[in-house]
Amino acid sequence: MLVNTLLNVYSALPHTIRKMTVKVTTHDMMYMVQRFKKSNSSVKDMDWGLQNRLSRIIRQPKNRALMLAVDHGYFLGPTARLEDAQKTIAPLLEYCDSLMLTRGILRTSVSPITNTPMVLRVSGGSSIIGKDLSREDITVDIKDAIRLNVSAMAMSIFVGSKYEYQTIVNLGRLVNISLEYGMPVLAVTAVGKDMGKDARYLSLACRMAAEQGANIVKTYYCENFEEVVDSCPVPIIIAGGKKIPEKDAMELTYNAIQAGAVGVDMGRNIWQSDNPVPMIRAVQSIIHQDNDADAAWELYNQLIQET
Ligand code: 5RP
Repeated sequence: MLVNTLLNVYSALPHTIRKMTVKVTTHDMMYMVQRFKKSNSSVKDMDWGLQNRLSRIIRQPKNRALMLAVDHGYFLGPTARLEDAQKTIAPLLEYCDSLMLTRGILRTSVSPITNTPMVLRVSGGSSIIGKDLSREDITVDIKDAIRLNVSAMAMSIFVGSKYEYQTIVNLGRLVNISLEYGMPVLAVTAVGKDMGKDARYLSLACRMAAEQGANIVKTYYCENFEEVVDSCPVPIIIAGGKKIPEKDAMELTYNAIQAGAVGVDMGRNIWQSDNPVPMIRAVQSIIHQDNDADAAWELYNQLIQET
């Protein structure tokens, strides 16, 4: 009876309020973990670790995330403007909340004297010139992720592709092992060459990733993105995609946040810009200071003038 009344009240709420009430925030997760700890004290330290790692990626006070993606080489090789990864990453490191990359680039191209949390790509196996991009496996042992002191592990799933089964089962297995160590898992809903990127498809892929236990899901922005966010019970971040004009990338970021994404995992639209530092700072202002795209664009131009 009480449950029905609450459900009726909830359904009558406007969409924006529902979004605020339903999305599981880091704070909510901490509450749930506290409850879990009470019933299972033997894993309490690991769950504290999970929460601590997650809170380094999705930041307080607004539960927002600016992740810088530089993992492209794992299937694209030396991507334009990422040929010298160290040179590309160094000036941007202080402005991102976390950096997403492979262990090869982490060990060779990032100073270990950094406080920036790392999100480690642990899947691979195909190349842009190979037969099928979706044929990925887990390529990194969790022991190496821990040795590297990363804050999360990331892998792709290819829903609707030839290797859908393999990548989804891999996600489940990665979550199994990650739970033992309190390591968050970021699932990337990769989209193959011939697949659409509409709300119906992306909702399916994101929800499937969350159902397997992913802690964060990365996907693409699309029309009616609220539908994707609302049907996914864990935080969503968006990829930037191919390079587009800076102002358009700012609009994309703003629209995604408005629709309920917690942030971005953006790569090419930052480091392929002619002004990468002003660009990342403009995107940061949308994510953390609630700037709209116009204000961010103004900041971007102002920062260019100052340099
Ligand atoms: C590839 C990835 C990339 O990190 C992702 O595409 C983000 O980079 P960009 O903003 O350049 O699209 O996960 O599978």
